Amino acid sequence: MLIDSYDRVVDYIRVSVTERCNFRCQYCMPEKPFSWVPKENLLSFEELFEFMKVCIDEGVKKVRITGGEPLLREDLDRFIKMIYDYDPSIDLAMTTNAYLLKGTAQKLKDAGLKRINVSIDTLKPEVAIKIAQKDVLANVLEGVEEARKVGLKVKVNMVPMKGMNADEIVDVLEYCKARDMSVRFIEYMENQYASKEISGMKSDELLGVLSEKYEFSDDGFDGSSPSHYYTMKDGYRFGIIEPYGDDFCKQCNRIRLTAEGNLIPCLYFDEAMSIAKSVREGDIKAAAAVLKEVVRTKPEKNRWGGDESEVSTRAFYETGG
Ligand code: 5AD
Ligand code: SF4
Repeated sequence: MLIDSYDRVVDYIRVSVTERCNFRCQYCMPEKPFSWVPKENLLSFEELFEFMKVCIDEGVKKVRITGGEPLLREDLDRFIKMIYDYDPSIDLAMTTNAYLLKGTAQKLKDAGLKRINVSIDTLKPEVAIKIAQKDVLANVLEGVEEARKVGLKVKVNMVPMKGMNADEIVDVLEYCKARDMSVRFIEYMENQYASKEISGMKSDELLGVLSEKYEFSDDGFDGSSPSHYYTMKDGYRFGIIEPYGDDFCKQCNRIRLTAEGNLIPCLYFDEAMSIAKSVREGDIKAAAAVLKEVVRTKPEKNRWGGDESEVSTRAFYETGG
């Protein structure tokens, strides 16, 4: 088992397969990065899989494929199938912007994918254009429908922003509720790459808006997710992700791997150790040692909270937020 120095069990890895994206979301990658990771620096699916085996053997139970946009990587189903065949009990999930899901959802499901998380920040095409800087909404919603049809479980993320989509919190919740998809509202996380214009909403503001319309009870954290959950009178459950809150890091059970093999212990920090050389040379013992070292040095918490709150210098598009 992988246990960090604060007694948190690390049993979840988020694996980015590309930092490229076909959207330019204001909160993530409003401008194309100065340079992309050169193709030859990307780990192949075989190399990534070698490392997944190490992680699974060490007790990892949940693997989430992220990006950038993971569906930009060709034959992604092949990588999913490798993990599924190695251990079908792994909770195998993917975070995607859903744009390319239509036409690929069935293949991903057949390969062994169980769940997806998608962003629905708005239900208005013109607002989607403002956020993603591309006319994306129709494809996203069709992609989500297709995923549901083939039997993938879908969770929805929304990042509410003042003057942008904040007036749609209830509409997005209702859209998800009608389709039995759980929705999580994410507090906007400041980072160096995001648009400077964004004004996010904090958890108490979100709860204020929602309590004008609904009655709900506070379920707290369920231990397996960074989300604070609430249950409405009719049983529907929604979540709020509060990276600025005191309890966010206490729940943290995850590490992140970038597409070029940097293993990152915390969303907020830049610090990483590379597994690229070890997996390329087939030195699995060395890769396992890096894994243990990264878990050992996992920081206690991010620096968003408290009096000396800072803006993260990490690019979230490297590891899918
Ligand atoms: N703040 C909050 N959430 C973010 N995401 C990406 N960047 C940010 C940010 N700066 C979320 C998106 C998406 C997921 C990949 O990460 O909502 O659903
Ligand atoms: Fe792409 Fe996701 Fe970042 Fe949007 S949030 S630019 S969809 S990686």
